[in-house]
Amino acid sequence: MDGVPCLRVSQCHAQHFRRSLESSGAVDLTLCLLKETDGTVLLPILPSCLSQLDLQSLRSKVAADSYCEIVWSQTPLQSKKRRGKTGGSKLEKILQPLMESHGETWTEELRRDLPRSFQRHGDLVLLGDGCFSLPQWRKMEQQLWSAVATGLGAERLAKMSRISKDGFRSPVVTMLLGERSWVKHVDNGITYEFDVTKCMFSIGNITEKLRVAGFDCRGETVVDLYAGIGYFTLPFLVHAGASHVHACEWNPDAIEALQKNLEANGVSECCTIHRGDNRQLQLCDIADRVNLGLIPSSEDGWPVACRLLKRKTGGILHIHQNVTSPLPNTTASPAVNDATQRVSGKKANREVWQAWADDAANRITCLLRDITGVSWTTNIQHIERVKSYAPHVHHVVLDLDCRPS
Ligand SMILES: C[S@@+](CC[C@H](N)C(=O)[O-])C[C@H]1O[C@@H](n2cnc3c(N)ncnc32)[C@H](O)[C@@H]1O
Repeated sequence: MDGVPCLRVSQCHAQHFRRSLESSGAVDLTLCLLKETDGTVLLPILPSCLSQLDLQSLRSKVAADSYCEIVWSQTPLQSKKRRGKTGGSKLEKILQPLMESHGETWTEELRRDLPRSFQRHGDLVLLGDGCFSLPQWRKMEQQLWSAVATGLGAERLAKMSRISKDGFRSPVVTMLLGERSWVKHVDNGITYEFDVTKCMFSIGNITEKLRVAGFDCRGETVVDLYAGIGYFTLPFLVHAGASHVHACEWNPDAIEALQKNLEANGVSECCTIHRGDNRQLQLCDIADRVNLGLIPSSEDGWPVACRLLKRKTGGILHIHQNVTSPLPNTTASPAVNDATQRVSGKKANREVWQAWADDAANRITCLLRDITGVSWTTNIQHIERVKSYAPHVHHVVLDLDCRPS
């Protein structure tokens, strides 16, 4: 088997998923769950149960907005008890002799530099940052990547290093094995194709994609100001039933993927792509809904979003933002236990999100008045936590209902 099959779930729903999997006997109890740095948790699954897993019904059992997907993980999942007895992961078994044949000693440091988890897009495995970083690996050159691909059951191999700061939020992904870098990813019945070396596929945003898919947008005109490869444009069209989506995007590589994806999902007739900087968009007074899916902040898009809302009836803005919470008070009295601190931490987070949302609502109300010359009422419908972006930084979405008074 290529690593350990796991269900990747968001941390807030991990216990629900675990209980649900346990009741169907699908959890591999000999292995530990693993917390990832992106706020997700890997739950090890028994390989024999993999084909019977129905992700859709699991999700609906846990929570309508929950997220889960199958990924493959490596050794650190092994329970401490068993780690000493079994001979390590398949990858370790393949790479140790290879390394030794190049005159290197296999060390604990090398073992820890093996990938802990990875994304699988068909026959391409995308390794994360923070593996194969030691100089010893370089000795083996292409032989290493062929061996890793064999170990992980892949034909092609790529590695992510970091998000570039070129304004396109492109991932820095390099192909290690294989030439073709286009991949296909299917989630919630939608096919997304994209070039892994040029466009970003944000797995952590799946909960928000599912939420969008659950909206009822029949008869609505939607503007997606930061369309990318169609992460939200497609659920708006395919599941939420929007009549038309205007998709704005300035990265030519993302536009190429977006066009393919609209066609592949049979909705290109209902979408107009606007190339270039959305701040220059000439449209106004057309939208029932505007999606502002850019983090760390979509503030640059607020004036254009306000111009886009229908003047007579108004509409809803979905505003994405990374909100930073205050650091917990480390001098708290020793009488305050962990559980109490966790509860007060959550409450503090919610208060910070609410304060940010109140401020955003006030500023949008002013923008709408200045742009249209009449007064507007804004209402915070909902604040959704999408994911933990970094320690104390949460990606949240504000659903703001805006109506002319
Ligand atoms: C992070 S992606 C968002 C994709 C999707 N909303 C998500 O959350 O996964 C942001 C996209 O917005 C595009 N973008 C950023 N600023 C833009 C602007 N001013 N005009 C048009 N597109 C822009 C980027 O090229 C990128 O494809």
